[in-house]
Amino acid sequence: MKEKNEPYRKDVAFINREKELAFLKGCLNERPESILFIHGPKSSGKTTLLYKFLEQIQREQKVDIKFMDLRKTFTNVYEDFLKTFFQVEDTGEKKESRASNINIGFFKIDASVEKKIMEKRADPFKVMEAELLDLTRKGIKPILIIDELQALEKIYLDNDKERQLITALFNFFVAMTKQAHLAHIIIASSDGYFLNTVYIDSRLKKCSTFYKVDYLAKEDVMEWLLNLEKYSKIKDYTLTEADAEKIWDTVGGSMWEIQNILGKLFEQSIDQILTAYKKEMRGIIAHYTEFDKNKELVLEVVNKKGIVSGTDFGVLPIEIRELKELLRDMVKNNILYFDPTEAVYYPQGKSYHLGIREYFKK
Ligand SMILES: Nc1ncnc2c1ncn2[C@@H]1O[C@H](COP(=O)(O)OP(=O)(O)OP(=O)(O)O)[C@@H](O)[C@H]1O
Ligand SMILES: [Mg+2]
Repeated sequence: MKEKNEPYRKDVAFINREKELAFLKGCLNERPESILFIHGPKSSGKTTLLYKFLEQIQREQKVDIKFMDLRKTFTNVYEDFLKTFFQVEDTGEKKESRASNINIGFFKIDASVEKKIMEKRADPFKVMEAELLDLTRKGIKPILIIDELQALEKIYLDNDKERQLITALFNFFVAMTKQAHLAHIIIASSDGYFLNTVYIDSRLKKCSTFYKVDYLAKEDVMEWLLNLEKYSKIKDYTLTEADAEKIWDTVGGSMWEIQNILGKLFEQSIDQILTAYKKEMRGIIAHYTEFDKNKELVLEVVNKKGIVSGTDFGVLPIEIRELKELLRDMVKNNILYFDPTEAVYYPQGKSYHLGIREYFKK
């Protein structure tokens, strides 16, 4: 019988992010004045960065962290939102957090307040405000983070279709930041379209800061790949500079894809892996455009230009309405990323760009 589990042959790396961490820390040292929106392509490391930031800041300052990860929680109706944000204090239950070394809390209420909220005799926003005020008075900085806020898009206050929960939440966030300076509020999302509705909303524009978290820069990728033992605890193989360049040319700074390739390198050669990868990415595009000439036309423009804005598609023989739908679909399927601050589209990472290029080689 085995005594112990074998150690993993590769560890999860965390590369650089000095600039991003310094930015977040800088925000925390200012009085809260606006809502901070963290955006960036799919899997660009937004959530990981936030956890790292919290871990560091918790060691240095008196903070109270409330982290709502809406991807993990099932939020369908108003009651789900209440259950996600509030926790009845005397149950002794602990909510699960992704990193066990971070002390993550929720709005704490006792059973009688919960009952009142559920029966609509107490306003949940007032309850949240009271706790933030209490923490601030005690010299503790409250930080409220909501990951994947767009998950609440279809929830209505008291299930009344006229009153969107998200609008009420934004009003509350503006009141807590710009007006009362009570809490740091950070919202992360990779849904560029959702963020765009926020970005162009004139009431919110003056009360929000947008910060982009992108894939790693080339120098970071090279540093990682040339020091695998240091960053990923890989002892079984090393990579040459030429190997690292090849990986960069295929997936760029997309950490998730790099980790994936590093995993395969235990069994296969780099050229085998990257050739298969290229084929796979081409296949994704071929599969996506199958039987749809218009999708092909749109991607052809993306292939030529790399970064495109709406007007670049003006030359295409596609009705505006259909074009908008196509672009939305491409963003939803993570083929393209839409950057709300610049109103531009580009392939979701280098590997998608490669797939598009390969597809049009024919
Ligand atoms: N600085 C980093 N160095 C190395 N790997 C990282 C780094 N940041 C994130 N990763 C890895 O990249 C992957 C994606 O990270 P994460 O889930 O934080 O991205 P995200 O931007 O929040 O994604 P989504 O768009 O799906 O919300 C994870 O496997 C994570 O371990
Ligand atoms: Mg995330």
